[in-house]
Amino acid sequence: MALLDKHKKIETHATLLMVLAFIVVTIGGLVQIVPLFYIENTIEKVDGMRPYTPLELAGRDIYIREGCYGCHSQMIRPMRDEVTRYGHYSLAAESMYDHPFQWGSKRTGPDLARVGGRYSDEWHQDHFYDAKSVVPESLMPPYGFLANRKIDGKYIQDVLKTHAMVGVPYTQDMIDNAKADFTAQADPNADSSGLEERYGAAAFGRAVNVRNFDGQPALTEMDALIAYIQVLGTMVDFSTFTPDPNR
Ligand code: HEC
Repeated sequence: MALLDKHKKIETHATLLMVLAFIVVTIGGLVQIVPLFYIENTIEKVDGMRPYTPLELAGRDIYIREGCYGCHSQMIRPMRDEVTRYGHYSLAAESMYDHPFQWGSKRTGPDLARVGGRYSDEWHQDHFYDAKSVVPESLMPPYGFLANRKIDGKYIQDVLKTHAMVGVPYTQDMIDNAKADFTAQADPNADSSGLEERYGAAAFGRAVNVRNFDGQPALTEMDALIAYIQVLGTMVDFSTFTPDPNR
C-alpha cells in the first residue's frame, strides 16, 4: 500500500512525472545506443560492394522520383519463404551506399533487392512499356515514357559529389570522370576502359554492365533505370561469402 501511495505522488505531479520519465528514458536510450560506439563496425564487411556507377546512380534517382518504392521493397528478410523466393537475405553492407536506402515497407509488387540479372534488358523494356505483355495479371503502371526522355548527365558530377559528402567513397578520379563514365556505360561502341578500371573487376571483382540498355540509339532515362535494376543485388559474390558467426 505504501508503495502505491508514493506512486500516487508521482502521478499527480506533472513536473515530477516528467523529470522522472526523462531520467528513465535517458537511461534506456544510453543502454541501447552506447554499445554501438564500442562495436568496431556495425556493418559487416563484404567483398564486392562498390558505389553505383554514374549511370546506375541516375537510374536510382529515377526509381525514387517515380515512387517505385511505393510498391517494391529492397530488403529480403532472413525467413525461409523470402530466401526461397528472392535469394540470400539482404546484408546491411548491401545498402550502405544507398542515400536514402530503399528498404521499403510495401510489397504490392515483389522485392527487388536481387532482381539484377534475373531478366534480360528486353524483358525490362517490354515490362516497362506494358507490364501485362510479359506478366498478364500484372497491375504495374506503364513507364514507356522514360524511353522518350533523353538524358546527358549534365548534373551527374554534382550528384556524385553530394554522395561523396555523405560518405560514399567516390574518389576524385570517379568524380572528375563522372560524365564520361555516364555516357560510356550505355554505349557498347564507346571506350569504357576508364569506367571498368574505376568500378570494374580489377577494383571490385566484377565487370561493369556496359551495353545499350534500352535498345535504342539515344541515351534515355530508360537506359539509366535498367542499368540500375540490373545491378541490384549482384555486387556481393555469395559463393564466397560466409556470415560472421558472432553476429
Ligand atoms: C502500383 C504498384 C507498382 C508500382 C508503382 C511499380 N511496380 Fe513494379 N511491379 C508491380 C507488380 C504488382 C509487379 C508484379 C507483376 C509484374 O511482374 O508486372 C511488379 C514487378 C516489377 C518487376 C519484376 C520483378 C520480378 O522479380 O519479377 C520489376 C523489375 C519492377 N516491377 C520494377 C519497377 C520499377 C522500376 C518501378 C518504378 C519505375 C515500379 N516497378 C513501379 C507493381 C508496381
